[in-house]
Amino acid sequence: GFRGPRMYRGWILYVVDTPPSGADDTEADQQRWLRQYRDGVLVVSTDGHIADVGNYHEVAPRYPDIPCRDYRGMLIMPGFIDSHVHYVQTQIIASYGRTLLEWLNEFAFPVEEQFSAPQAAAAVADIFLRYLFQNGTTTSVTFAATYPVSASALFEAASAYDMRIITGKTWMDRNAPPQLLDTPESAYRDSRELIRRWHGKGRNLYAITPRFAITSTFEQLRLAGILHAEYPSTYIHTHLSETRAELALVRELFPGFRDYLAVYEAAGLVTERSVLAHGVYLSGSELSRVSAARSTIAHCPTSNLFLASGLYDLQRANRRGVQTSIGTDVGGGTSFSLLRTLDETYKSQHLQGYPVNAFEMLYLCTLGAARHLHLAGKVGSLDIGHEADFVVIDYLAQGIQRTRMEYLRSTGGWTTESMLFGLEITGDDRNVAATYVMGRPVYASRLHRGSHVL
Ligand code: GUN
Ligand code: ZN
Repeated sequence: GFRGPRMYRGWILYVVDTPPSGADDTEADQQRWLRQYRDGVLVVSTDGHIADVGNYHEVAPRYPDIPCRDYRGMLIMPGFIDSHVHYVQTQIIASYGRTLLEWLNEFAFPVEEQFSAPQAAAAVADIFLRYLFQNGTTTSVTFAATYPVSASALFEAASAYDMRIITGKTWMDRNAPPQLLDTPESAYRDSRELIRRWHGKGRNLYAITPRFAITSTFEQLRLAGILHAEYPSTYIHTHLSETRAELALVRELFPGFRDYLAVYEAAGLVTERSVLAHGVYLSGSELSRVSAARSTIAHCPTSNLFLASGLYDLQRANRRGVQTSIGTDVGGGTSFSLLRTLDETYKSQHLQGYPVNAFEMLYLCTLGAARHLHLAGKVGSLDIGHEADFVVIDYLAQGIQRTRMEYLRSTGGWTTESMLFGLEITGDDRNVAATYVMGRPVYASRLHRGSHVL
């Protein structure tokens, strides 16, 4: 039915530029890269874009006829962007005791075989999207299985919510069970057909998705690169240098190449539209080349810890100018929550001498990811003109945050930064009161139902 414009009142918080590292920034400096309206209002147009934003008492009087939902006491932030995840692995989260290559053979490949059936794919695609919304995620860069129907199922499910999804069929022509394999030619043709059907239709975007060097011949990788050159507004989505055992096997399979990245470079897969998951074991040379190509590394800390893969060095990547964003990497990762994933990001980086600050972490899964995905101006921010993908966060949902706030207030330490850091370290889906996609509610938590009455 008809939905008119809407307003949402709450503590509006988002970043508009790269926050500096460290802990010395003053509240005055924050003006440059942070927007916040403690008693703010977000005005959303009928077509699902942000029409206005600012202080409630300045902005709301301009729109006397627009109904206002009262989220005072809660944060309103841009929806989170998950830069790397596998929707087809939703069912195998928490599979015990293996490292990457065994884990793929024992758990990932068997479950992915089920996605040749359109009904099964459609059912999991919808469950997957509901988990994303429950966790405040509104944009996702997602692997499907090798079957073209598995990609179409997710595009269809996302279209039903008018959600921005980036996915594509996986390419694998060796080193996987025969039922899952395609060929260089079939992968090229099937992907081209999917691009024509889905890329740029509504909010859908296509990623050409060779799984990784181990499961593709060079001939197949080369065709993926050719297809991307023919459709340059598509993305490339793959894995790179996640574990030492993987690295050793790539060296055996591609003896003529100087390193792992060189295989992808020779195939035309290292571009400014490439999302390369993990990058844990990159050499200095590889980091410099990733940086020069303006490709993006998706850092997936819960997966890197769960599969005992290793630690991504974010500070080293930053120093080399490498763009990083954050992925949950379910089912190698252990949560769909970007808040849980930021907690693990902090711990993984702090362990290496780089305690990422609260605003840097927010940037990684909102504006930073949007910029790296060439979606700045559309998502990742709540400035006027953006698509109204936003999340309403009850930042005191856990009793522990309230206890912490009361103590910090008494000592003068309760700031936006300490609120946000507490949310990132202790937060999860209990903090998500509601999620909106293109201005429409796609999730409302049962705990917060009372707050949703207009
Ligand atoms: N490398 C190749 N395939 C996969 C996968 O499915 N998950 C992870 N974590 N790494 C991979
Ligand atoms: Zn992955």
